[in-house]
Amino acid sequence: MNITLLRQPIESVPTQWLVLGIFEDDAEPPQMARGTTLEARISRLSAEKELTGSLGELTPLYELPGLEAKAVLLVGLGPRGRFDAGAAFSAGFALAKRLAGKRREGVAVVLPASLDPPLFASALIEGAIAGTRGPGLRKSEPARHAFESLSLVVGTGQTEDESLKIERSLRRGEIVGQAVNLARDLVNTPPGEKSPRQLADRIGLVAADAGLSVDIWDQTRIRQERFGGLLGVAAGSDEPPRFVILDYRHDALSPVLALVGKGVTFDSGGLSLKPSASMEDMKSDMTGAAVVVATMQAAARLALPVNVTGYLALTENMTGGRAMKLGDVLTMRNGKTVEIMNTDAEGRLILADALSYAVEHQPQRVLDLATLTGACMVALGPRVAGLFGNDEAFRQDVIAASAQTGERVWRLPLDDDYKEQLKSHVADLKNFGGKWGGAITAAKFLEQFVGSTPWTHLDIAGPSWCDSDNATRDTGGTGCFVRTLIAYLEAMATRPHPDGTP
Ligand code: BES
Ligand code: MN
Ligand code: ZN
Repeated sequence: MNITLLRQPIESVPTQWLVLGIFEDDAEPPQMARGTTLEARISRLSAEKELTGSLGELTPLYELPGLEAKAVLLVGLGPRGRFDAGAAFSAGFALAKRLAGKRREGVAVVLPASLDPPLFASALIEGAIAGTRGPGLRKSEPARHAFESLSLVVGTGQTEDESLKIERSLRRGEIVGQAVNLARDLVNTPPGEKSPRQLADRIGLVAADAGLSVDIWDQTRIRQERFGGLLGVAAGSDEPPRFVILDYRHDALSPVLALVGKGVTFDSGGLSLKPSASMEDMKSDMTGAAVVVATMQAAARLALPVNVTGYLALTENMTGGRAMKLGDVLTMRNGKTVEIMNTDAEGRLILADALSYAVEHQPQRVLDLATLTGACMVALGPRVAGLFGNDEAFRQDVIAASAQTGERVWRLPLDDDYKEQLKSHVADLKNFGGKWGGAITAAKFLEQFVGSTPWTHLDIAGPSWCDSDNATRDTGGTGCFVRTLIAYLEAMATRPHPDGTP
């Protein structure tokens, strides 16, 4: 998709589709429509309550006199006071999903008025790129088509400097939007086509292509490295596990962020077998790993001045004859022993090894993303991630990045008494803390493996997947938190280093 900036009045934009955003409860038609035939049309539609401007509302208008554009699509932006980057992403998604059903040469989107045009331009493009890509990866006829060209129309009011900034944000939006789609595609891939071996190979190709360095461990190496958690979970599968290490090094001075991703390519629950309905979307249990590789791809393509190492633990959770049993004890990478009391609490076992290994390399901070617990969805619903951590400043930085993108997180507690629920009579810990506070006991388990490294954990069980589609969303993988992690890395990049180096 060729993405360009157009500085011209909307009447003269020669395009198949011109897209214009409409705020909810706005008395005035959009600034850019003033004095055009669109202005009267919009006012009339609003007066007749045919047009409300609710987020994602889509109203096509054909053959408007006085416009070069062949057709106009009005897209609702929601209330002006609540228009954030998340709403801009959703509006971009909605307009693209609506128009991507056919091949389109040119689509021109008018940038809505906002306080931070470059930020909103990027979010709008990210959404538009995501909206042209659906979950139908294996449909015999493609149901969506990327636009040949997408232009963002900004009118002529900007200074050179302002439009240069917006111009730069187009490239950012393209890269971040493509990264979101990479994560979604990996999640939407059928589980039979993304065994740990296949997924590791695919991630290796993508990462190498982006200029990351890649190290893929096979089962022998994983055994040599004493990853007892990963081996224990993989034991029930005919497919061997993989551990993938990705490196993005910008320079020797910038601090290193470690990103750890849960990569269960299919979670049947193991012997603590899930009921069928709970298993339907368990190909998405590798979202954490997908989001890490996607984020690192974007960081590298944007040449962000940061250093990131990614650690991906990839396995299936199956019920084969060698599957771990309740009462089995695993010895983890850091020497701690874990009694298995529920084989469906597998994510924490593979993350424990990955986190232990990550902190051995002394990153400045370690952040993990995992579709870890259904309990987190009970607590927060399907759209909000649970946020946990042992470091206030780190937590605040992640919360600030999420506020910038509109992807939602909510802090949950991590007090020490929750650890009581993980006491075992046989081993150092058990992997299942009983029915209350399941998202918290899972996070408490992970905490035992990060030592004193500043650590944040995002339980993304809810936001990783969308159960039903509407104008602004697709059913399937969402690629959640790629956008937030990029915002986080950008914020890190502009901060002085804690040790005083520039
Ligand atoms: N992958 C699941 C968590 C999950 C559930 C993600 C629903 C997305 C949607 C995880 O491995 C799991 O099975 N967790 C158990 C933990 C329990 C056995 C302590 C759960 O949430 O039921
Ligand atoms: Mn599970
Ligand atoms: Zn799982």
